[in-house]
Amino acid sequence: MLALLRGLGLKAICLFIFFIILSCLIVDAYDPLDISGNVTIQWDVMQEDSSMYNADITIYNYQQYRHIEWPPGWRLSWEWAANEVIWQMQGAEAKEQGSCNKSLGTPPPHCCLKNPVIIDLQPQTPLTKQAANCCRGGVLTSMAQDMSKSVSHFQMSVGFISNFTMPSHFKFGTPGYTCGEAEEVVPPTKIPEDGGRRWRQALRTYRVICSYSQFRAAPAPTCCVSLSAFYSETITLCPECTCGCQGQPGLSCVKKGQTLPALPKSKDPDYAPPPLVNCTAHMCPIHVHWHIKQSYKEYWRVKITMMNLNLHKNYTSWNLAIEHPNLSHLVESFSFNYKPITMDRPINDTGMFWGIQSFNDVLMQSGENGNVQNEMLLRKVRGIFTFDAGWAFPKRVYFNGENCVMPLPADYPKLPNE
Ligand SMILES: *[C@@H]1O[C@H](CO)[C@@H](O)[C@H](O)[C@H]1NC(C)=O
Ligand SMILES: *[C@@H]1O[C@H](CO)[C@@H](O)[C@H](O)[C@H]1NC(C)=O
Ligand SMILES: *[C@@H]1O[C@H](CO)[C@@H](O)[C@H](O)[C@H]1NC(C)=O
Ligand SMILES: *[C@@H]1O[C@H](CO)[C@@H](O)[C@H](O)[C@H]1NC(C)=O
Ligand SMILES: *[C@@H]1O[C@H](CO)[C@@H](O)[C@H](O)[C@H]1NC(C)=O
Ligand SMILES: *[C@@H]1O[C@H](CO)[C@@H](O)[C@H](O)[C@H]1NC(C)=O
Ligand SMILES: *[C@@H]1O[C@H](CO)[C@@H](O)[C@H](O)[C@H]1NC(C)=O
Repeated sequence: MLALLRGLGLKAICLFIFFIILSCLIVDAYDPLDISGNVTIQWDVMQEDSSMYNADITIYNYQQYRHIEWPPGWRLSWEWAANEVIWQMQGAEAKEQGSCNKSLGTPPPHCCLKNPVIIDLQPQTPLTKQAANCCRGGVLTSMAQDMSKSVSHFQMSVGFISNFTMPSHFKFGTPGYTCGEAEEVVPPTKIPEDGGRRWRQALRTYRVICSYSQFRAAPAPTCCVSLSAFYSETITLCPECTCGCQGQPGLSCVKKGQTLPALPKSKDPDYAPPPLVNCTAHMCPIHVHWHIKQSYKEYWRVKITMMNLNLHKNYTSWNLAIEHPNLSHLVESFSFNYKPITMDRPINDTGMFWGIQSFNDVLMQSGENGNVQNEMLLRKVRGIFTFDAGWAFPKRVYFNGENCVMPLPADYPKLPNE
């Protein structure tokens, strides 16, 4: 009895330490697969006189596999130092104009708020209101998926009374991001002209770095992984209560056969309804299943299935980042695009999968064929290849940059002789 208690105590202590380490890792905005990933806001002052300046603002999504989606799209805000107003904007707009002082004349400025919230324009915006790299509804793709659309840009004329001061308290309005203060960059940005023959230079350049933390975005995970293998009858389910428990106050779900509640309505055209999931033991909106399907003489085959259990969301341009020591021996990915992520990684063990355009790049909402699947073929490395000890299962899985919780290694499907 005593021995049993001692055993349990040790296990509990180990688990406790494990969670402490885990929460340290999560609170720190550090992503082990994308260490330098961040969103950078660049503020280039291009022209200035005694009462006004023109600025070019560029938002770079420097994250390998985390994108910004519509709805709602990015929302950038800051706090002016004094009584600045935005006279005019190209390629974006302030959500609210606010009340402008009559002494500013007519037409009044575009925005007179102390804390303006800037949003991107929609693609169908007339050309006269556009700027380069604008008007994608606030969507920023991840760097690995499409670098050309991971940038957003707008221009504005800022009026001030006494002098130029950089605003402070920048916010990148998607949950989970926190931004530092603006820092001047020397030398300022150079902009190519005449096909790169001439370089124009900004008067001054400032940069704000925003970083993401899943823990800040939502206290609970949003994705889980289950496992199976041809050599075992065991199906290792998603850990119970990964994303919440059924019946937990404030957490609703839809039972089999239950009629769906009406989709919440909003006047905001960029409104994103809160998730509503099918009732499961894990309660996650996203469930990834990894199945070791077959073993050949030289190769082995894996099937990945992703299930959307959220009845309120279609995941457009979804992606899946996977860490697996054998991805460097990937021979073919049959129904997903694949790109290794080697930046910052000591070994070639991480890659990103995403859908093929107009085939499976949208993971439809639950109840509307809400799943996508892929098979892939990997080469066995002679001498070191083994299915032993869960080697063939992934180490880390991220869906749209959100960590997918893995089952405990002790529960993995085992070889008959293990
Ligand atoms: C932000 O990302 C850029 C581009 O990858 C990188 O050069 C820079 O060091 C990053 N900054 C921080 C503070 O992580
Ligand atoms: C409007 O601007 C005038 C002139 O700069 C100033 O005297 C007045 O206090 C301002 N009014 C408000 C409500 O800010
Ligand atoms: C510019 O204006 C700000 C706010 O009014 C003030 O704190 C700062 O000292 C001024 N700087 C210069 C160089 O005049
Ligand atoms: C998802 O897409 C389907 C088909 O295009 C559409 O009927 C449905 O309303 C969409 N769901 C949401 C939440 O936008
Ligand atoms: C990593 O592995 C992929 C997939 O096999 C391969 O295409 C790529 O060249 C490798 N990269 C490095 C740096 O080894
Ligand atoms: C989730 O609920 C919807 C609506 O009741 C249903 O159509 C769908 O089949 C359910 N999906 C799963 C995986 O149970
Ligand atoms: C994967 O790679 C590791 C390390 O290189 C190796 O020990 C293991 O046998 C490999 N497993 C498979 C299934 O290829």
